[in-house]
Amino acid sequence: MNFEFNETHLMIKETARQFAEDELAPSADTRDEKEEFPYEQVKKMGELGFMGMMVSEQYGGAGLDTLSYVLAMEEISKVDASAGVIMSVNNSLVCWGIEAYGTEEQKQKYLPDLASGKKLGAFALSEPEAGSDATNQRTTAKKDGDFYVLNGTKNFITNGSQADIVLVMASTDRSKGAKGVSAFIVEKGTPGFSVAKKEKKLGIRSSDTVSLAFQDCRVPKENRIGEEGFGIKFALKTLDGGRIGIATQALGIAQGSLEAAVKYSKERKAFDHTISDFQIIQFKLADMATNIEAARSLILYAASLKDRKEPYAAAAAMAKLFASRIAVQSALEAIQIHGGYGYVREYKVERFLRDAKITEIYEGTSEIQKLVIGRALLQ
Ligand code: CAA
Repeated sequence: MNFEFNETHLMIKETARQFAEDELAPSADTRDEKEEFPYEQVKKMGELGFMGMMVSEQYGGAGLDTLSYVLAMEEISKVDASAGVIMSVNNSLVCWGIEAYGTEEQKQKYLPDLASGKKLGAFALSEPEAGSDATNQRTTAKKDGDFYVLNGTKNFITNGSQADIVLVMASTDRSKGAKGVSAFIVEKGTPGFSVAKKEKKLGIRSSDTVSLAFQDCRVPKENRIGEEGFGIKFALKTLDGGRIGIATQALGIAQGSLEAAVKYSKERKAFDHTISDFQIIQFKLADMATNIEAARSLILYAASLKDRKEPYAAAAAMAKLFASRIAVQSALEAIQIHGGYGYVREYKVERFLRDAKITEIYEGTSEIQKLVIGRALLQ
């Protein structure tokens, strides 16, 4: 497949690269250390149009394609994977989900602020007993006149405590299992909706990951997305696109690891040579670069299928499966090339390893991606 980038694509990539270098790089290590959310940086990402890249212009978005989105996402994640996941969830899960399946009123009400970064979104599917087994929803939504009353707990919710708008999956009819789950838009400040535990994480520490609690939380019926019972299909369809975003976050981490390793190998001297003179180092860099190009091709392929409105679920799963593996491997190799310096916080490659691991877990573990790919092959 031929990936021809036009001038707009190249301009977006360059804008994202410059933004990442100027606005994210100087504070990324400190925010990681202090577990600080990048408030100012997310605001600027909104101003640059990075928070609603694929949202149509009529709803205040940048009206761009998925290729543009992945080009920007790689540049952001190369420098700061926490900013990458904040951007990915807002773009691919929240904005895309509302635009693809929301009512006209929902799109007009929520998309302009989400796309401009004035408001932030979160996607609440996971529960203490519904991670990979996502259909096993225990949160309930009981119809009461013109409202649904939500009760339950969501966990590991990215952007959770910062979000103004949360897409919540909840069971409207437990007897129907997966077919009894519905999707709702819940606004921050709705009585009965609160933030519970903030997680202390291995990586992506400057992003926000929390549990959310719903206790007799009354949500107007016009906030339901799609029909009753559409919630699991809504969540899984939306996650198909989300996986392209997370694959690209992983790609960014891998590329950042490679660039750090190349730079260090040209500076570090051993045995009267820079270590880049040694074939063992060149071979490591060559393997990293080859795998990264392969991951990039899988991502661009999935993104272009999505842009052409062709089925992309399996391609997205392949891209995420491979890119997340490459992210972990590349970060490990970058540390190895740095030797002892790679193991300490002064050099950012140890952050890359800590950030990489989650890409094999969230938006479907690698095992779930294999299940999705396997089912597509055998259907
Ligand atoms: N699109 C639309 N519908 C889909 C679908 C898809 N990609 N995949 C499955 N469905 C439908 C099925 O057709 C089925 O509907 P019908 O009965 O009407 O045919 C229904 O959804 C249930 O599917 P299954 O019967 O296949 O359910 P399952 O339990 O066997 O498997 C699964 C489903 C693929 C394992 C799914 O649960 C899954 O993907 N799990 C991983 C969940 C996940 O990715 N969580 C991420 C949380 S969000 C997050 O991480 C965001 C963040 O913070 C960064």
